[in-house]
Amino acid sequence: MTIHIPAPTPEDKFSFGLWTVGWQARDPFGEATRPPMDTLYALERLASLGAYGVNFHDDDVIPFGSDEPTRARIIERFKKGLADTGLVVTTATTNLFTHPVFKDGGFTSNERDVRRFALRKVMRNIDLAAEVGAKVYVCWGGREGAEYQAAKDVATALDRYKEAFDLLGQYVVDQGYDLRFAVEPKPNEPRGDILLPTIGHALAFIDSLERPELVGVNPEIGHEEMAGMNAAAGYAQALWHGKLFHIDLNGQSGPKYDQDLRFGAGNVRGAFWVVDALLSGGYDGPVHFDYKPARTEDDDGVWVSAKACMDNYLILREKVRAFRADPAVQQAITAARVPELAVPTLGAGEGWQQLLDWELPDPDLLAARGAAFEHLDQLALEHLYGVR
Ligand code: GCO
Ligand code: MN
Ligand code: MN
Repeated sequence: MTIHIPAPTPEDKFSFGLWTVGWQARDPFGEATRPPMDTLYALERLASLGAYGVNFHDDDVIPFGSDEPTRARIIERFKKGLADTGLVVTTATTNLFTHPVFKDGGFTSNERDVRRFALRKVMRNIDLAAEVGAKVYVCWGGREGAEYQAAKDVATALDRYKEAFDLLGQYVVDQGYDLRFAVEPKPNEPRGDILLPTIGHALAFIDSLERPELVGVNPEIGHEEMAGMNAAAGYAQALWHGKLFHIDLNGQSGPKYDQDLRFGAGNVRGAFWVVDALLSGGYDGPVHFDYKPARTEDDDGVWVSAKACMDNYLILREKVRAFRADPAVQQAITAARVPELAVPTLGAGEGWQQLLDWELPDPDLLAARGAAFEHLDQLALEHLYGVR
């Protein structure tokens, strides 16, 4: 059985971090296997594959420490590249992890001067983000954490984390920027333990901010799976809270180091349910890929993997739609009493008093009923395996 893979369109809003295809594949055990990639080359290749947008860290485009004239020149060249290719900047972010100054974090470093330096770096790149039209500002606090419990007071670090977001929210409001923040959770790597390790931690933290409406989450599939979480369920809950401002799609095979596989590789079944959660939850932001082309690949392999991210999304989207439209699935959903969950537990006008008057059913009779979930899930697998 073959399914037709549609070509990407701007409506699909596929976007890539410049650091993804541009990754030189340096890892803790080995040197780079690919040369640096010129930004304009990356823009051209991404556009020719059908991507819609890009996302960048300040340092991806402008080397750390560049002087003002160099920075201005680089930005002009970047803007020309965007204009020539028609690519949109959907998102921007700050690198607060590569330079050794951030070895103990940016917003939550024990050293106050480092925290102040980090905030200035973010504010400066927020200006650029607004200038090039980004609507989302991702905050991945990869170095906000610790290896040793006594070295980082978690409650105090969260005070400083909140202080940073409150200040940046104020900055965006005062500057009149149309920009919202998206916190990206990750449980560990590069720190032994990272603050805001999962979607749930991040959502609770956001609630404590001065301007919670300006801050949402940017969950990455691999990071949730590293924490043993079900990524699709996390996306669904973030949508339920109105907080899914951005997504980082990639692949991961179980809880181990951050694999950043191309989207659709790794946990394929998990990827199917992520696409289902995004479609049924009405997510309409950028469909962003944050992956690393394997270290074994040359330039050709980089572009094969970038195209594969989009193809795999489009393939899974077809499969999810076919699954949802299949009459056998709809019957199985009814048999599994999924629609009944949408019926409120109390009837109109009922309170606890009426519940006390309700004649209790026989629990053994209720317990004896099968839930019929196996059949429903098998239908999903048959769609995924391509036999339906
Ligand atoms: C990771 C992270 C990073 C961040 C990116 C944005 O793989 O650990 O996903 O790639 O998303 O750096 O700051
Ligand atoms: Mn990752
Ligand atoms: Mn990411």
